[in-house]
Amino acid sequence: MADKRKIVVTSALPYANGDIHLGHLVEYIQTDFWVRFQKLRGNECVYVCADDTHGTPIMIRARKEGITPEELIARSHAEHMRDFTDFQVKFDNYYTTNSPENKALSERIYAAMEASGAITRKFTPQLYCEHCKMFLPDRFVKGTCPKCGAENQYGDSCDRCGATYGAEELGSPKCTTCGAAPVVKDTEHLYFELEPQHDYLEKWIPGHTTSDVSNKLLEWFKEPLRGWCISRDAPYFGFEIPGHPGKFFYVWVDAPIGYIASLQSWCSQNGKNLEDYWPTTGGGEGSGVELYHFIGKDIIRFHCLFWPGMLHAAGFKGPDKVFVHGFLTVNGEKMSKSKGTFVNARTYLDNLPPEALRYYYAAKLGGTTDDMDLNLADFVQRVNSDLVGKITNIASRGGQMLQKKLEGRLGALDEEGRALVEKCRAASETIAKFYEDRRFNQVVVEICRLADAANEYFDRREPWKTVKTDAEATRTTLTAALNAFRLIAIYLKPILPAYADKAMKLFGETEWTWDSLGETLENRSLGEYEYLANRIDSKQVDAMITAATVKPGESGEVSHESRASKNKDKGSANRGTENGESVPLKPEVAFPDFDKLDFRVGVVESCEIVPKSSKLLKFTLDAGSLGKRTIFSGIRGAYPDPAALVGKEVVFVANLAPRKMSVGVSEGMILFAGEPGVNGGVVSPFAAAGGGTPVT
Ligand code: MSP
Ligand code: ZN
Repeated sequence: MADKRKIVVTSALPYANGDIHLGHLVEYIQTDFWVRFQKLRGNECVYVCADDTHGTPIMIRARKEGITPEELIARSHAEHMRDFTDFQVKFDNYYTTNSPENKALSERIYAAMEASGAITRKFTPQLYCEHCKMFLPDRFVKGTCPKCGAENQYGDSCDRCGATYGAEELGSPKCTTCGAAPVVKDTEHLYFELEPQHDYLEKWIPGHTTSDVSNKLLEWFKEPLRGWCISRDAPYFGFEIPGHPGKFFYVWVDAPIGYIASLQSWCSQNGKNLEDYWPTTGGGEGSGVELYHFIGKDIIRFHCLFWPGMLHAAGFKGPDKVFVHGFLTVNGEKMSKSKGTFVNARTYLDNLPPEALRYYYAAKLGGTTDDMDLNLADFVQRVNSDLVGKITNIASRGGQMLQKKLEGRLGALDEEGRALVEKCRAASETIAKFYEDRRFNQVVVEICRLADAANEYFDRREPWKTVKTDAEATRTTLTAALNAFRLIAIYLKPILPAYADKAMKLFGETEWTWDSLGETLENRSLGEYEYLANRIDSKQVDAMITAATVKPGESGEVSHESRASKNKDKGSANRGTENGESVPLKPEVAFPDFDKLDFRVGVVESCEIVPKSSKLLKFTLDAGSLGKRTIFSGIRGAYPDPAALVGKEVVFVANLAPRKMSVGVSEGMILFAGEPGVNGGVVSPFAAAGGGTPVT
């Protein structure tokens, strides 16, 4: 084998505000195949990834759940890790972009970009909500599409005609938070100018992507390249830009830098030097280390234009190749929550084994940007007929017969058996080449071809008959079949690592590398036969789809998810889009206004259900020097047993004007807190049903 290579590999960093789903897994699983293959070949390969934690959607999501962004990203990190681990996706480091390493690297790369003269400042018009006192990201504005006139469209693109535009172009725009009409106001933004790298990037792109990807990108090079807006106004969860208080790095600036930060964290944990893995000066010429990014086709612009531009401006090594894959469809259609085909990793795992999906994805992935279809009927059929019926069958038939009838001892190969084993061995460089080229579907085709040969041999020798008459001839047959299976299992190891480990134990071995293909096992005892793979049932798939089905109105995030993937790479080169959601946060209150409210503590003397009202409870408070107060609160949903509140201390607004209601006069308002995750932990006089504790 050629010299040992040193390779750094990344998958795109999943957003911390969402669950891992089967679409994501197309990427992480195929990257894992490739990394495991490199390791099996004896190359040094480091696979790093992280959660992408910054930006408006994460801030909003945390606010909605009543937790801090830090709490949200810690929770996602744990969930994502568990999903990946259970799908046997093995990172060398899975980090976070909200790390000190990433902050330092972002500042350093930005400083280098600035020193190279590539950062400019421009005043740009942006919609500003006077009421909310903030500049509105694209997804915080709705209005009429400037192209087709459809109403109620977001500020980045139109759902009806697909046009992309700037939020200021919308007709009669409205702030999605408060409904007010925003004004156009100038705000200063920082831009990363790409035109100085026009020639560099035009040459760089074709050598580092496939031709379909590069042809598309190169269309932009007919004109001067537009600058990329890299700053965002506060409030923003991210890194503040040094020297620009109130301005933050746009999430797409520090996200790819997160690749380097994760690698740096891996280096610290393993006593290595970042320079040896990701050179940061002189563009990394002659460093000998290879760098590859696996990404989906929606984020090409960030990885094949802005990112190499940033790295080049800063003198860091750039990627050797950006491997772009297509999108997952299920049964030929885009994943859909209402159809139950938008399946989270966990929902899959609750119903089906990870090996089945890994095997099926391998069988379908050809290293191109074409979309990949998960056809559920085909999935069940392929796994059962090929993985279980064809491949695993050799081991289960051969292994069990040898254990039960022939003391579990392998014999020696005869000529025919040797030919079979040699045939399997001869495929090794073909298979290696397919792995290297990410043509995993061809790897599977080769493996199935070899499994067919082994089964054909097995059936022709009829060991189930000969075992009654000629034990040694049977042993010879099984020795060949099992040696063939062993080679097949080694070939499968990058795709099915846990499966291969069990197979390895069957042969009593402790480590498989690509070199293990050179060995033939003869005249020795087998280890235990452990079940390798079970048939799957379409009922399991049905149960998964049922569990994943979201009924209309159950989740508002359907459009959020699909939009995010649909529009991410469509916008102008000027400004990335953001997949934020609105939240009904009331406008800021000045302190003098707040100070007008008089909060007092009272003790609940009585609390009763109000007849004919599903919501109201009638409270009598003992308010000390203020005397007794009667207050009606619409909180019954949270307190099915009002008597339990008697004797509790509550905070109430004591100077609110008495309000005449149909059931009586309410003399104030009691404050209740929703639980975290319920109604955003909102403190409200009419807290959400389902939770709520008096604030005392
Ligand atoms: N956070 C950014 C990436 C930053 S990388 C510096 C992002 N995150 S994501 O969670 O939306 O997507 C992560 C990866 O999963 C992307 O490469 C994306 O293309 C891929 N996929 C997300 N949904 C997918 C499908 N439905 N099908 C295939 N891949 C998909 O983008
Ligand atoms: Zn507003």
